[in-house]
Amino acid sequence: MIEIAPSILSADFAYLGEAIHAVEPETSWIHVDVMDGHFVPNLTIGAPVVASIRRHTNSYLDCHLMITDPWDYLSDFAKAGADSVTFHFEVGRTLELVKMARDLGMKAGMAVNPDAVFEDYASFIPQLDLLLVMSVFPGFAGQSFIADVLHSLRRAKELINESGAGTILEIDGGISLETINRSCLAGAEVFVAGSAVFGKPDPAKAIRELKAAARHAQEVSE
Ligand code: DX5
Ligand code: ZN
Repeated sequence: MIEIAPSILSADFAYLGEAIHAVEPETSWIHVDVMDGHFVPNLTIGAPVVASIRRHTNSYLDCHLMITDPWDYLSDFAKAGADSVTFHFEVGRTLELVKMARDLGMKAGMAVNPDAVFEDYASFIPQLDLLLVMSVFPGFAGQSFIADVLHSLRRAKELINESGAGTILEIDGGISLETINRSCLAGAEVFVAGSAVFGKPDPAKAIRELKAAARHAQEVSE
């Protein structure tokens, strides 16, 4: 699978519906960056905006919760129509959150910051629907890709293959035409892209180009 999850963080929040419709022909994923000004030094949006978006699209709403206390908000995201919630490994209570998300009818993802130690979170991987490897420190769009995380990505892919788990491997931060090929070769399947999609004049075309670059990397390696 190769899928681009455009991050609406780089879209114009006054025209979110239009931004989402613009990318719908090219992807069924939408990445929603939720920030609380505490876990990360930035504030964005929450469940009410997810509910508004839900009324305008059937896309898979991949909600990335960069918040300190996700357990207090999971039911709000479920009611709003989120398809998956991805909380951070760094906030703890991982297995409890996985169960809560699933009991509420959502898929459960866990994100790891670039400095997370693989051995510390590896045991959770087979129990997740999605592992999100951050290739920037979360908080802002438009940062530079941290290539060091590719090592953890490769190890996560191996572990998923060995365990037979169906965990989806997603990467987030600094994904561009220059970095998507390396990420794809390391095992990522879903690529979050903010500025490389909504920062471009033609977001749909940008997605086509990113997908083509990832596919090319795959073909060359085969
Ligand atoms: C960063 C967010 C990312 C961000 C990606 O904290 O989690 O999803 O929007 O933006 P780009 O693709 O511009 O790095
Ligand atoms: Zn994100």
